[in-house]
Amino acid sequence: MLFFVKVFLIIGVFGVNIEGLGRQQSVEVYGKLQCCHLQEETSPLSESAMKCVNVTVAKIKLMDYYTMWFDSTLQEIHVEQTDHYNLVYKGSRITTIKPYLEAYVECPFGAFDKTSEVLENRGMIKYDIVAGNC
Ligand SMILES: *[C@@H]1O[C@H](CO)[C@@H](O)[C@H](O)[C@H]1NC(C)=O
Repeated sequence: MLFFVKVFLIIGVFGVNIEGLGRQQSVEVYGKLQCCHLQEETSPLSESAMKCVNVTVAKIKLMDYYTMWFDSTLQEIHVEQTDHYNLVYKGSRITTIKPYLEAYVECPFGAFDKTSEVLENRGMIKYDIVAGNC
């Protein structure tokens, strides 16, 4: 009896579908993609303002976080001269996807690497990527 409980616990924890290996999952991440920097105002009365422009080039990877193994890339996109992005992954995975983003962003004033935290997997995720010194 204890053996079966353990087996079901393992199946539950790893999200294994008994009918087949893995189950169909989809994750969509979208949001703003911007290069921002703090701009000091010339007047002493005004506060410094955030100035945002389009990214020059960006490479964005949708990653799957594994606790016990190497993380894997689910999807990758390259974009140019834009202020937003949209990434869709559809596929069969054994474990429930723990999505996060790895982005390389080129701005007019420099290049930046941004890695998000693991995002709450709600299928459709809004996540803004802001690169720069802010
Ligand atoms: C910024 O990106 C948007 C969306 O791709 C585009 O419509 C717009 O023309 C771009 N602006 C500049 C200044 O390149």
